[in-house]
Amino acid sequence: MQGKVCWKSPSNLAIIKYWGKFGRQLPRNPSISFTLDAAHSLTEVEYASKPDIDKCKVSFHFDGTANQAFGDRVERFINDISDLAPWMQGKSLIINSSNSFPHSSGIASSASGLSAMALCICSIGQRSDSKLNDKTYFLNYASTLARLGSGSASRSVYPYLAVWGETEHVKDSSNEHAIAFDKVDPIFKTYHDDILIVSRTEKSVSSTAGHALMDNNVYADSRYQQAKDRLKELLICLQNGNLDKFGTIAEDEALSLHALMMCSDPSYILMEAESLNIIQKIRAYRKETGLPLHFSLDAGPNIHLLYPDQIKDQVKPFIESELIPHCVDGLVIEDKVGEGPVLISHEY
Ligand code: PMV
Repeated sequence: MQGKVCWKSPSNLAIIKYWGKFGRQLPRNPSISFTLDAAHSLTEVEYASKPDIDKCKVSFHFDGTANQAFGDRVERFINDISDLAPWMQGKSLIINSSNSFPHSSGIASSASGLSAMALCICSIGQRSDSKLNDKTYFLNYASTLARLGSGSASRSVYPYLAVWGETEHVKDSSNEHAIAFDKVDPIFKTYHDDILIVSRTEKSVSSTAGHALMDNNVYADSRYQQAKDRLKELLICLQNGNLDKFGTIAEDEALSLHALMMCSDPSYILMEAESLNIIQKIRAYRKETGLPLHFSLDAGPNIHLLYPDQIKDQVKPFIESELIPHCVDGLVIEDKVGEGPVLISHEY
């Protein structure tokens, strides 16, 4: 069997954060995210069955250049999920992948990259498992595989918003895979998420190490409860379009995530001075204007600027004159909530 499949898949921003895991990459608390649009990965997998190999063999090219480290990681990932994607065994893969965002922008590509990879694997699987021809089953399966590569990647396979992790407040929610979350005021489906690049340097502590430190964090149990409580409140804001409350929860979540890092043992800090300068300016601007401009952060120093489409012209001069000067080389990725992954082609 041979063929070539290509998916484009976006990154996502968690509003309620996943931080802490157990078992086979299962979350300690439920999370919810915006699926992004501009920040995405494009991954093409050329596959061929080889009678002389039993596992999966990967040759990986990033931006047109061979990348052994990425190849080894993807090969390990595919072989680790051989129980769930047995059709990948005995295949040789040539993978070509690229990101829409600058390589050294400090933006993690694991959510977009691993969701794109999981979608390619499921498309290949459609040739041997007919259940994968059902759209919902396909996406849930892709989300499960993506989760095993990187927890947050599980949420990237759905349009607009996705929930990952069991919660009594969202029907059919699961620890195994994310699901689409559609009970939202339409204002959130065009929400802006401009990513202000504060530093391009690689994180000093990886997310994997950060999750592991939660196991001995003295605040862990109250944190997991806090995330559950905030999710319940946030779902109400998403439904009734309460932007002020939405933004307050988004900011509190971002700062809680970073506070957990600061009070881990050993303690560490991923924010930079410029992250704090931007946060203070956003809060002062909001106080002065009353406009719903809020921030979030991932596990890094970059600031995600959240605002509804309706105020984009009003906030633009402020972003340009007051915030962009704090960015490294004035770098901003102007992103928005997006429609989810796209199958570009599948030839065989
Ligand atoms: O998917 P991971 O293992 O890289 O964890 C990422 C966790 C956060 O981005 C900090 C939060 C989240 O829910 O995306």
